[in-house]
Amino acid sequence: MLRFLSLLLLVELVFGNPINMARFSLRNKRGISQDEYLVTDLPGLVENIKEEDRPVMFAGQLELYKENNTHYFFWKFSDKEKSPELENRTIFWLNGGPGCSSMDGALMEAGPLRINEDNKVVYNEGSWHKKGDIVFVDQPGGTGFSYTDRYDTELDQIRHDFLTFLEKYFEVFPEDIHKEITLAGESYAGQYIPYIALGILERNKRVSEEEKYNLKGLLIGNGWISPNRQSLSYLPFAVQAGMIATSHPRWQEVLSRHMRCQDLVAGSKDDDTFDTSKVVDGVCEGVLNVLLDITRDKDGAKNQECYNMYDYTLKDTYPSCGMNWPPDLPNVRLFLRDANVMDSIHLEHKNMWHECDLGVGTHFKARNLRPSIVLFPSILLEIPVVLFHGNRDIICNYIGAEDMIAQLKWGGQRGYSDDITVYDWIYNDTVLGYIKSERNLTFVNVFEASHMVPFDKPDTSRALIDILYEKLDVRNVDGEKPQMVTYPLGYKKSTTSDDPMKIGVQEPPTPSTISVSESLESGSSGNSTSTETHPESHTSRTVRIIQLAVIVVLVWGICALYNTYKSKPTSIIKTKPSGRKKNVQWADQLEDDIELEHPESFILKALHKFKGTDGYSNVPGDDIELGKVNGEDDFIIASDDEAEHALSESTSDNQRRSKSDPTS
Ligand SMILES: *[C@@H]1O[C@H](CO)[C@@H](O)[C@H](O)[C@H]1NC(C)=O
Repeated sequence: MLRFLSLLLLVELVFGNPINMARFSLRNKRGISQDEYLVTDLPGLVENIKEEDRPVMFAGQLELYKENNTHYFFWKFSDKEKSPELENRTIFWLNGGPGCSSMDGALMEAGPLRINEDNKVVYNEGSWHKKGDIVFVDQPGGTGFSYTDRYDTELDQIRHDFLTFLEKYFEVFPEDIHKEITLAGESYAGQYIPYIALGILERNKRVSEEEKYNLKGLLIGNGWISPNRQSLSYLPFAVQAGMIATSHPRWQEVLSRHMRCQDLVAGSKDDDTFDTSKVVDGVCEGVLNVLLDITRDKDGAKNQECYNMYDYTLKDTYPSCGMNWPPDLPNVRLFLRDANVMDSIHLEHKNMWHECDLGVGTHFKARNLRPSIVLFPSILLEIPVVLFHGNRDIICNYIGAEDMIAQLKWGGQRGYSDDITVYDWIYNDTVLGYIKSERNLTFVNVFEASHMVPFDKPDTSRALIDILYEKLDVRNVDGEKPQMVTYPLGYKKSTTSDDPMKIGVQEPPTPSTISVSESLESGSSGNSTSTETHPESHTSRTVRIIQLAVIVVLVWGICALYNTYKSKPTSIIKTKPSGRKKNVQWADQLEDDIELEHPESFILKALHKFKGTDGYSNVPGDDIELGKVNGEDDFIIASDDEAEHALSESTSDNQRRSKSDPTS
């Protein structure tokens, strides 16, 4: 630890520029010009990216508090040619950690730029900036290019600091203050985002109409929201994914760990009387540690030894188990450490970029406040939330998320209704996942995606914004599962209708448009079907009948084809023929997924047998704690060398950080 911090200090001494910083603060006081933040020059920007794709960019370090030298780094991307509809949106993106830089999001996930092998920028065809301005913020202080003399230790500080950041941000971009705001992010940001959201909603009640922020909704990817509930999902997930079988020689080891966690969760108090003295995390997260340990393949190649905890279809060295992933990381690191780049993004304070900052991680305790799951009932009263989960992620897996939702009481009811409609998510003629939505909470399972969904699936991840904004069609085709359909950029675009749910406004991509359309919330709004011929057309009756016949035959053909296609076991996500068998199987076993929550499912039977209870699904709900970690079995190492060293000296927070490091 010491070594790491002193290294940072050294970097600051070498790179820090006190004179510039003083001038910067002076200017701040006088009011800031946007131009000072304009980013015009980056390696590869002109050579590699077409003129029309080059985003308008602003970046820099905004001063939050002078007294403790806290500055937040932001990087804003806007599309050159925004449609009026998108003109009005700002998406703030936060990565997790705690302490992991949102440059992950900017340069490997949702942002328009990716970094190639030459450490130059190339265009991300799936960039979210086509759906609204997107602003990546390094927070809390000490993360990425943000810096501070005082680390945050609790979630309320993070909330307060982010609200301060927003004030400063809108001083620079006053034209954005009344735009619709979406808070988006990943992993441990599943803790930050609800806290910040509620902070904004509460602030709105205090301030004048003019000063209110228009918070539209939340979009959280593979979020770490309910630690207890989600920790109990590791073993069920591993069995489901085929990572481990009960016949495994060390099965008992992991099962007993799981049961210890289960006991702790069951014994911890209800949310309302949250008991900070109870320490659940160490034992519960130990389940994952043990799991990765006993499933490692010591005879395999070094880099194939351990499951990648962010994508179970991938392997990594042990004990990294995913820390070396994603593969873009070394390029991003070199890019952000390039002195010219640091100048271009207006760093006044040039610290060396680390994906995840240990100082932040070790100072952040989150002991006094309850995990963000307890805020959901209040948030959902006012705004919609979309939780999406890449289904290959282990560490914040979808089973845990669904179980968490099942235990959550909001909108006058616990969990989703038993008979909730499960929609296939259709995008570009493909089933991308499934969607459940009720009482402002939408859950999306994204097939074939990791912990970092926009990394794996940039283009389709962007359509998650359409799900939040309900820019989708709902279709009920006889004999098929109900569908929610979102569209690639340009497909259904340019609809000027103020009813986003309308079907058949433009040509949807599949011919299966003979379907009744409904609105997600208000069934009345979808009142058009594409089968209607235009009243003003003067086609004769016969021609119409022939047209209809042709359409019927066409649709019949398509349906038949689709059924054949669907009945193949590998059909849904067969994009990589190269032997990712497990994954293919898994996506096809979605029916079985649901069964996992069923009392008769395999894992529950196993648990029932050993524990003599009804298994983990009967654990009293919503009791969640974030606490000190006991540090046993720590296998997690941060991504940088210094980090590795420092972590071995300070074990106490390893487990918690592992939640998201290095991705989140
Ligand atoms: C969902 O959110 C809207 C505001 O967007 C609110 O009016 C409504 O009451 C919420 N629904 C529930 C079930 O809380």
